[in-house]
Amino acid sequence: MNKGVAVYPGSFDPPTNGHLDLIERGSKMFEQLVVAVLRNSEKTPMFSLPERLEMLRELTKDLSNVRIDTFDGLMVEYAKSIDAMCVLRGIRAISDYEYELQMALMNRKLEPTLETVFMMPAVKYSYVSSRLVREVAQAGGPVKDLVPEVVEQKLHEKLDPAYKLRDTQLIEVPIRREKRRKKKA
Ligand code: PNS
Repeated sequence: MNKGVAVYPGSFDPPTNGHLDLIERGSKMFEQLVVAVLRNSEKTPMFSLPERLEMLRELTKDLSNVRIDTFDGLMVEYAKSIDAMCVLRGIRAISDYEYELQMALMNRKLEPTLETVFMMPAVKYSYVSSRLVREVAQAGGPVKDLVPEVVEQKLHEKLDPAYKLRDTQLIEVPIRREKRRKKKA
């Protein structure tokens, strides 16, 4: 077992500023931090697995000791397979604690040698969750300051497909008009 390896498991649907804050803190604490996205969750995600991996890879590209991976089945089995000694989880408020404690104790029952380490994200992110970000974005509200810019862009693209075409249309429309003008002349 490698004492320097920790796993940060989650759904990351989508990754938020709170997740990123925790990844940055974790990367300073552990030799290697593996951010592991759960495959085949029962929930239907807003972002596909490849989309979430792409966002996480982009967000952590400057953190050399952070690796992005996926896992299926029991998290403790995955932790063992990558030789991790710790599980990192974030606690934002007391309301998170009950669920996190239950999960940590279940994981300890399944694998007594695996420790769970809780860390708090910055206070300014203490109310930010992926679920609320999805809810606000789906209702057309602003998510700036809640998620990194890359994620904000992806949310716009997902919820308003026309957004992606925005720049192309701005260029193409004048060209088409120009062609029509030439035809008339
Ligand atoms: O970001 P989330 O949705 O709070 O993450 C939850 C996650 C993925 C960490 C948790 O559901 C998990 O570890 N699932 C894998 C299945 C497992 O090991 N279950 C037993 C632990 S209670």
